[in-house]
Amino acid sequence: MIKWKDEYSLGVDIIDEQHRKLFEIAGRAYDVLKDQFSIDKYDDIIAIIDELKDYAVYHFETEEEYMQSIGYRKFLSHKVMHDDFIQNINKIDLRQVDENPEKHLLEVLDFIIKWIDGHILGQDKNYVM
Ligand SMILES: [Fe+2]
Repeated sequence: MIKWKDEYSLGVDIIDEQHRKLFEIAGRAYDVLKDQFSIDKYDDIIAIIDELKDYAVYHFETEEEYMQSIGYRKFLSHKVMHDDFIQNINKIDLRQVDENPEKHLLEVLDFIIKWIDGHILGQDKNYVM
């Protein structure tokens, strides 16, 4: 499973701490996915999606405040990406999760991994350079 590495560190403590939390949520999603003994994963999956939503809003606020505090020039285009993320999580139709929980869990994992690999290593690195 995806593990924290030094290269993910931006050197801004509060943001690194929050990114680690994202790894934690990804780890939990992975555990639920590979748990063969759990028959009904619906509640676990909904809990993970809910947590991810709350966390994303909270974390992006922190990042956006930080970017503004250092006068980051590409703040607006970065914020657009954050808003897209939130929109994508909100697009998950919770009623459909019950019909195919594993498929949705995979989607959530895929989403978090893209966030970690694409966004943190790509865009987030830019505002600390
Ligand atoms: Fe970001």
